[in-house]
Amino acid sequence: MRVALTYNLKKKDPLKPADYFSECDSAETINSVVTALKTKGHSVEAIDVEYPALLSYFKTNRVDMVFNIAEGKHGRFRESEVPAVLDYLKIPYTGSNTFALALALNKNLTKKILKAENIPTPNFQLFVKGNEIPNSELRFPLIVKPNCEGSAKGINKKNVVHNIQDLKSQVKECIEIYRQEALVEEFIEGKELTVGILENGKTRVLPILEIDFSNCKKSGEYFYSWKMKEFQGNQELGLVPEFHCPARLDKETEAKIKDVALRTHRAVGCLDISRTDIRLDKFNVPYVLEINPLPGLDPKESNFPLMAYAAGMKYEDLIEAILLSASERKRLN
Ligand SMILES: Nc1ncnc2c1ncn2[C@@H]1O[C@H](COP(=O)(O)OP(=O)(O)OP(=O)(O)O)[C@@H](O)[C@H]1O
Ligand SMILES: [Mg+2]
Repeated sequence: MRVALTYNLKKKDPLKPADYFSECDSAETINSVVTALKTKGHSVEAIDVEYPALLSYFKTNRVDMVFNIAEGKHGRFRESEVPAVLDYLKIPYTGSNTFALALALNKNLTKKILKAENIPTPNFQLFVKGNEIPNSELRFPLIVKPNCEGSAKGINKKNVVHNIQDLKSQVKECIEIYRQEALVEEFIEGKELTVGILENGKTRVLPILEIDFSNCKKSGEYFYSWKMKEFQGNQELGLVPEFHCPARLDKETEAKIKDVALRTHRAVGCLDISRTDIRLDKFNVPYVLEINPLPGLDPKESNFPLMAYAAGMKYEDLIEAILLSASERKRLN
C-alpha cells in the first residue's frame, strides 16, 4: 500500500511553555512507525502536517491510506484538523473520525455521554468562567484539569485540592493559563489502569496495563501527572513507575474493566484503536477518566505498545493491525 504518515513533530522551543509540545510525537516515534510500515511491505512518506500545506500535498500525491497520528495545532478541535482535510479530499485514514476525535478531546462532553451510558466516571463540575458556585455534593479531594488537553498538560500535584480556597485558585489558574474551561472531578484513590482496544478483524481488548507509582515516593509525585509522564523513567528524579501487564486483578474485576473500556470506545465512536484511562477505587468500581483515540505509539515509552507486546504482538504487528483495520473499513464503504 502507498501510505502517508501524518504527524506533528515534538520540538524544543525555550520561548514556549514547558508543556507546549507534550502532545506531539518525537522523531523516534515517527521513525518507528515508518520502519514498521516498511517492514510490512508498504511504501511510506512521512508528512509533518505543518508543511507543506496538506491540501496541496494530497491533491498532487496519491496515497491509498493515511496513517494519522497528528495531534493538530489549534484549539479544541485540533485533533480533527487532519481528518477534516482528508474527509474533504475523500482520502481514507486510520483511526477515529473528526467527530470522535473532537468529542474525546472534550472531557466534559465525554463524561456526559458516559453518564448516559451508565459507565462509571468521577463526579464532576465544569467551570467556564471560574466564578461558579462549587457544587457542594462533590467530595474532596478534587482534581482540577483543563477540559480539552491531553498528555496530562496542566495536571500537576497541586491540582489535587482539599478545600474550597485551593479549589477556587486552581480553577482560576487553569482557566487563565490554558484559556479554556476547567473540569473539576472527585479524585479517585486507587489503582491506575489503562485499557487498549484494537480492532483488527474483531474488536480486541488488550491485556490491561496497571501503572504503580508506589516506587516514586522520592519524587513527591503520586499519580500520572505531567511531570510523571514527561520524565518517566528518570531515576534521579525518582520518576520510576512500575508497569504490570496484565494488571494484578482478579478475573471478575478484569472482565468488568474490559467491558467498561469497550463500552466507552463504542459510546464515543472510536475506530481502530483507543486507550481508556481508568481508576479503580477501593470498592472495585472502575471509574473512566477519559478515552484517547490517538494514544502515544512510542515503541519504548508509550502505554499502548506495552499492552500490544503483552498480547504477543510485535511493534510492526500493532502498526499493521491499525492499517488493516482502516483498510477493511474503506473496503466496506
Ligand atoms: N479523577 C481523578 N482521580 C484520580 N486521578 C486522576 C483523576 N483525573 C486525573 N487523574 C490522574 O491524572 C492523570 C491524567 O489525567 P487524564 O487522563 O484525565 O489527563 P490527560 O491529559 O487526558 O491524559 P493523557 O496523557 O492520557 O492524554 C490520570 O492518568 C490520573 O493519574
Ligand atoms: Mg489520560
